[in-house]
Amino acid sequence: MENAKVEIRRYGPNDEALLFGLIERAGEEWTEYCKGSGRRKYQQALAHSLCYLLFEEDQLCGYARCRDDDGFGVYVYDLLVDERYRGKAYGRALMERVCKDFPEDTVYVMSDVDPYYEKLGYQREGSIFIVRG
Ligand SMILES: CC(C)(COP(=O)(O)OP(=O)(O)OC[C@H]1O[C@@H](n2cnc3c(N)ncnc32)[C@H](O)[C@@H]1OP(=O)(O)O)[C@@H](O)C(=O)NCCC(=O)NCCS
Repeated sequence: MENAKVEIRRYGPNDEALLFGLIERAGEEWTEYCKGSGRRKYQQALAHSLCYLLFEEDQLCGYARCRDDDGFGVYVYDLLVDERYRGKAYGRALMERVCKDFPEDTVYVMSDVDPYYEKLGYQREGSIFIVRG
């Protein structure tokens, strides 16, 4: 859509059904967030996170969930753009919004897709180990 109105705003409890709809559409890799007890746990995680929703017109197209480590960095844990809306720089816009809201902080992202974040020009810093599965 040409010149569509795009808005990013903070997630609130009233957005729950909308957000879970997006996550459900994302397929198998996201089912642990939205099926059975996973949904309840993710509701809790959302309640304790900073979450941003991106809308094109009135349609929810993507979201980013992060946590603020009280001055020691902001960590993006989840980034998702609906398949139908990919390739419109919405993923990038969500990441940039987090950076804009935390100008004094280092912003990190927990990557599952390194080529994407490399494409965005981000620098690699450390890695994650599973201490116990
Ligand atoms: C990865 C994801 C967030 C990208 O969202 P998007 O809004 O389509 O991405 P953008 O439009 O911001 O892409 C920016 C650039 O990265 C490129 N890109 C997109 N996905 C990519 C990928 N998986 N690998 C490498 N480059 C990628 C785009 O082609 C674009 O390049 P351009 O600027 O030359 O056109 C989206 O595909 C998605 O939600 N995937 C499933 C969940 C996921 O993998 N999340 C991230 C890991 S935690």
